[in-house]
Formats: sequence, C-alpha cells, structure tokens
Amino acid sequence: MYKLFRPFLFRMDAERAHDVSLRMAKYAQSLTPGMVSSLFEFEDERLKQRLLGSTFSNPLGLAAGADKNAVLVDFWEAVGFGFVEVGSVTAQASKGNPQPRAFRVQEDGALINRMGLNNEGAAAVAKRLGETRSQRKRPLGVNIAKTHSPDIMGEAAVEDFRESFRLLAPQASYVALNVSCPNTREGKTFEDPEALDALLTVIMKEREAPERRVPVLIKVSPPNSPRIVFDSELEEMIAIAVEHGVDGFIATNTASDRSGLTAEETDLDQIGQGGMSGAPLHARSTQMVRYLYRATDGETPIIGVGGIRDAETAYNMICAGASLIQMYTGLVYEGPGLVKQIKQGLVERMKRDDHTNIGEAVGTRSQIGEAAQV
Ligand SMILES: Cc1cc2nc3c(=O)[nH]c(=O)nc-3n(C[C@H](O)[C@H](O)[C@H](O)COP(=O)(O)O)c2cc1C
Repeated sequence: MYKLFRPFLFRMDAERAHDVSLRMAKYAQSLTPGMVSSLFEFEDERLKQRLLGSTFSNPLGLAAGADKNAVLVDFWEAVGFGFVEVGSVTAQASKGNPQPRAFRVQEDGALINRMGLNNEGAAAVAKRLGETRSQRKRPLGVNIAKTHSPDIMGEAAVEDFRESFRLLAPQASYVALNVSCPNTREGKTFEDPEALDALLTVIMKEREAPERRVPVLIKVSPPNSPRIVFDSELEEMIAIAVEHGVDGFIATNTASDRSGLTAEETDLDQIGQGGMSGAPLHARSTQMVRYLYRATDGETPIIGVGGIRDAETAYNMICAGASLIQMYTGLVYEGPGLVKQIKQGLVERMKRDDHTNIGEAVGTRSQIGEAAQV
C-alpha cells in the first residue's frame, strides 16, 4: 500500500511528505480504528520482554522525531510498534529552523535534517498525553531536549530541562534526555562530562517525587567511525551516567558528518548542514551499542537506533547489545508494513539461533571485533 503512495510522497519536500503521511494515517485511524491494527497484526510471545519497569510486547519502537507532539500515538501502536517515543519536546514551544530542513538522499537510504527541535512545548504535550492516557496500550517514552535558543545556557539550560521533566515525567513510561541533538546552533553541550553531571544531578533529584519516579535514559551521539576501540571521553560520560543511576542509553542520534554517503558532493553541499540518519549510520550506531553494552557489562538496558531498515539490521543491533530498538528513516523509505516484516524476521532468526526469547539474543555478538559485520 505504502509503495503505491511513495512516488507521490517522494515528489514532495521531505517534511511536507511526512506531514501528509501523518494526516493520512490520522484519517485512516479515525475512520476505522480496528482496520489499521488488523492490517498490521503480528504478535509473538517470544518477542515479549520486561524491562525498565514496563512490559514490551515486542522490542521495536518508534524513534524520537517522527511524532514530536504526540498526536498519533494510537496509530503507531496500531501499526505494531512495541513502544513509542515522542518528542523531542522542549520547555518552550519552538518553530525550529527555517524550511526546507529535511532532505532525502535516496541513493543511500538516508535523510539529512536540521529541524531544530520544532515542537509545541512541554505544557501542551503534557496536556495532550494526560488527555489520551487511558487509550494507551504500550509503553510510551518521552524525549526531552533543551529549548532551541542560544540564550539559554549554563544553569538556565539545566533549569529548562528540569521544567520539561517536571511536566512530562508523570505521563511517561520512561524519559529520554536528548543530550546529543546536533541541530541546534549551540551544539551538543550536554555530552560534555561536566554539563552532563550538572544536568543529571538536577534531573535525578526531580525524579524523587513519587509521580516522577520513571526510568531516565540518555540519548548519545554516534562515534565518528565504526571502529571505536577505546574512547576516554566516552568512558567518562558512561561513568557519570552510571554514577547518577541512569537506567539506560539510547544509541544513537543522527551524525553531523557525511561519512558513509555515496551521493554526489555537490548535491550534499546544496543540502547544507544537518544530522544524517538511515542506512549509512547503521554500522556506527551498532558499534556504539556494542561499546556501551561492554562498558556496562550488559547490565544497563540499551535502545539501539540508527539505520534499521529490515530484520537483519534489527537483529544485528540486538545481538550487538540492544534490548530494544527503534527506527525512523526506515519507515520513511519502506512504510509502516516494515514493522510487521521486522517482527516476523526477528522470530525467524531467533528460531535459527535456538533462542526462546528475544532477550537471549541481546549481546550475543558484542565483541568489539565483530564491528565490521554490517
Ligand atoms: C527528521 C528527523 C527528526 C528527528 N528529530 C529528533 C528529535 O527531535 N529528537 C531526537 O532525539 N532524535 C531525533 N531524530 C533522530 C532519530 O530519533 C534517530 O535517532 C536517528 O534518525 C537514527 O535512526 P534512523 O536511522 O532509524 O532514522 C530525528 C531524525 C529525523 C530523521
């Protein structure tokens, strides 16, 4: 079905195509709520896991960015995602960067975006999530980031994050701190160890309140190359996260560089700045998952994200050490039918490898030397 619409969608600007797709999805869902779920139905007990205080019926979730304002959570659930991450949401509403700001690099199965954290703001999204709470069937992650403004720095930036956490944590199964957004003018300040330490001190204090006692995960940048062996800055970041009792990592965000793209340089120059996602990111994200898994002795859940586009790349990420996985760009290229295809493919691969639950596959290929498999 999606393949029929795709040529029409791909003639539009990437952001407009996304908006049109979401509007069509919302319409289909409101017209016949049961139809969407029956079309995409596929459940298997072997994909079920209990993690981060929630039960995940399958490990595949929607990555942040696709539904920033949490307007279609019921649709994503109906399509078969095991969980949905909305956001990034920021304390203040923001229009983001000027358009155009999302671009397809079709020959590489990639996207480049510089959306710049456009969203309706924490209060509006918290209100919507509160109103739709009773309809939710699956775990819901809320991804928060610092308001897109170079004037909000230092302590004010921490306070900005705190405000989003205060409003949104009561609505979330987990909160992801987006400390790695490459699309703000001020850069990725919170991956700096000192800044991360200050941020986590405040957030962890805030979550002591009973209504905000949710798992906290941090979303990190990809490494510069798929061959990281030892990285002292990364080690420091992991140590700080673990010390503060962070419950998990999301690896990774988009990449600021263009490595892995084969498209003509002139075409890429025309696109300009932005974070790269999709197929060319997969090897690096997978390697980051592997690194985090080993650094935390497999004891801290990892959500693997980056270039998942079929069952093979999904299984790869899980074997590298991801307990859960997410995708966004794969969905743009292949459509929502990919969710069912991936779940079916995961079950086939588990059978092949004699696993009775998907959790048994996690980290089975976490040796650093296995990096080049993708
Ligand atoms: C258009 C677009 C917008 C995104 N917006 C966000 C965001 O607001 N917050 C965030 O943490 N990640 C955001 N991401 C990153 C994705 O969540 C994901 O980490 C990245 O795209 C790699 O996964 P993929 O290759 O499956 O797309 C965005 C990605 C894209 C393509």
